[in-house]
Amino acid sequence: KEDPRVRGIAAAIRVVPDFPKPGIMFQDITTLLLDPDAFKNTVDMFVERYTDMDISVVAGIEARGFIFGPPIALSIGAKFVPLRKPKKLPGEVISENYDLEYGSDCLQMHVGAVQPGERVLIVDDLVATGGTLRAAISLLERVGAEVVECACVIELPELKGRERLDGKPLYILVESH
Ligand code: PRP
Repeated sequence: KEDPRVRGIAAAIRVVPDFPKPGIMFQDITTLLLDPDAFKNTVDMFVERYTDMDISVVAGIEARGFIFGPPIALSIGAKFVPLRKPKKLPGEVISENYDLEYGSDCLQMHVGAVQPGERVLIVDDLVATGGTLRAAISLLERVGAEVVECACVIELPELKGRERLDGKPLYILVESH
């Protein structure tokens, strides 16, 4: 049985056709942020799931994982680690490149932010092809961390991103078709 909060969360996400280019139905979470009840319910649902799971790190993916990750981290008593686009982090970094539909992109993490054996939750707003989450998983595993789960607000299930996560569990609140 679906949690009654999910309907309000889904309704608060605006879908913008043909952004940023023709054919893309952009899932805009800025309207969710304008609705304090829906935003709080979103964070609460993640916090309820990840409390008492012995997670010491919430890793958030730039840019919208920086919105949802920190309130979850604070509530479960974990540290927050930003996974950033290239050339943003000032310290020593490790990098993971990944393919996009056209071209490629890269995520970076500060060396030393996560220790071997730490239990990590990865947070982003949306999973599409899964390439971004896959790169995040790889970064964390390369430093010896244990990725417990990936959590996103929205999944686009047609793109089968879930299948690219090396068997890591993916938890989502809303499916968008
Ligand atoms: C979006 C979204 C995820 C990623 C998912 O970010 O916020 O991070 O794409 O796509 P994937 O599953 O196909 O990898 P975007 O590329 O818009 O970057 P931004 O957050 O820096 O704007």
